[in-house]
Amino acid sequence: MSEHRIAILPGDGTGREVAVEAMRILDTVSAHTNFGFDMNVIPCGGKHYLETGEEWAEGSFEYCREEVDAIFLGAIGHPGAHLPDGDLAGGSVILGLRAGLELYANLRPIKLYEGVPHKVHGKFTQIWQPGMVDLTFLRENTEGLYHSLLRRSADRALGREPYEPIEMEFPGMSGEFAYDPRPISARGTERIVNMAFEIAQTRNGAPGDGIKRVSCIDKSNVTRGCQLFRKTYDKVASNYPSIEKDYGYIDAFMQWITRSPEHYDVVVSSNMFGDIATDLGAVLQGGMGMAASGNIGDNNAFFEPVHGSSPKHAGKNKVNPIASINSIQLMLDWLGRKNNETGLVEIAKLIDESVADHLRDGKMLTYDLGGDAGCTHVGEAISQILRTKLIEL
Ligand code: IPM
Ligand code: MN
Repeated sequence: MSEHRIAILPGDGTGREVAVEAMRILDTVSAHTNFGFDMNVIPCGGKHYLETGEEWAEGSFEYCREEVDAIFLGAIGHPGAHLPDGDLAGGSVILGLRAGLELYANLRPIKLYEGVPHKVHGKFTQIWQPGMVDLTFLRENTEGLYHSLLRRSADRALGREPYEPIEMEFPGMSGEFAYDPRPISARGTERIVNMAFEIAQTRNGAPGDGIKRVSCIDKSNVTRGCQLFRKTYDKVASNYPSIEKDYGYIDAFMQWITRSPEHYDVVVSSNMFGDIATDLGAVLQGGMGMAASGNIGDNNAFFEPVHGSSPKHAGKNKVNPIASINSIQLMLDWLGRKNNETGLVEIAKLIDESVADHLRDGKMLTYDLGGDAGCTHVGEAISQILRTKLIEL
């Protein structure tokens, strides 16, 4: 019996509903394999802040850092919930963990499953073909344009005075203005680019041509940070001669990923560019309800659906739990590789197959995929498919 301790941070809005489905998957694995999951639910987020005056209970950050093997986060963000200085209430949780635990890689797989319709012009159509959209996006997660807020959030999570960058002068600007410095370091870039090449080695290449490729997406024609990002990418790439190098500017990349997603295998980019590009990427896979992610460092990681708290859908049992179920898939794959437990890597694959079977069948889908099934119904159905596969193991 191998026991893993998991912190569950449901957070706000629909995060609370999808966390239940994430836990259902872990319970299903516990019930039918030798892997056990000891889950501890930690209330947190913007709504929790409005109700209690704290983003999460004191000691929660340290608990997540030291006491658990992995973390699941539902979503952070509640309308009108801000800290006194205007920062996002709940930021200590999502951004505090990213910066405080050095979770430098935000891993966002973008894969279109068979049977998933995309919603374009308000209608469900098939523009991109299943099998032709299958890439792994790596967003740098600790610096770039988010740097100041990340540092402030980590300081709050650790009970320290929040960091403020030094005053800068901006010639030609007058009146009220605000700014966010965008520091990019060689060390920060090197570690994420390294991970991108390591992941490329484990994949089968781009769906269009089967070539293993890592695309560096930046704006190095304009910014110094991006010039360092690209220079560092080149340095790391020279250690991986069998993987094709590829470059793009973020603006042009947005066109290419829309028109020819089959070209992309692994994509690496800086923080804010990655935030924006992966929301577009979600469209290629059927929408935010399908987009899973992992925030990964050398020692810790948390896994979360990309969709956020979507307050207008909260409490209605209607959102798609697949982004969360696939985040658990990423969690088990990560845990398995890190601890050399190949059984967990196999179970992660079975979760993927269960989701694929469910979608191919196509009878029970949530509203975002053109159906009217509830979050719990889809979660139960996928757990049931997984159960059958685990029993057959
Ligand atoms: C995401 C979200 C977050 C981000 C917000 C909630 C701070 O949009 O995970 O992509 O911008 O990183
Ligand atoms: Mn985002």
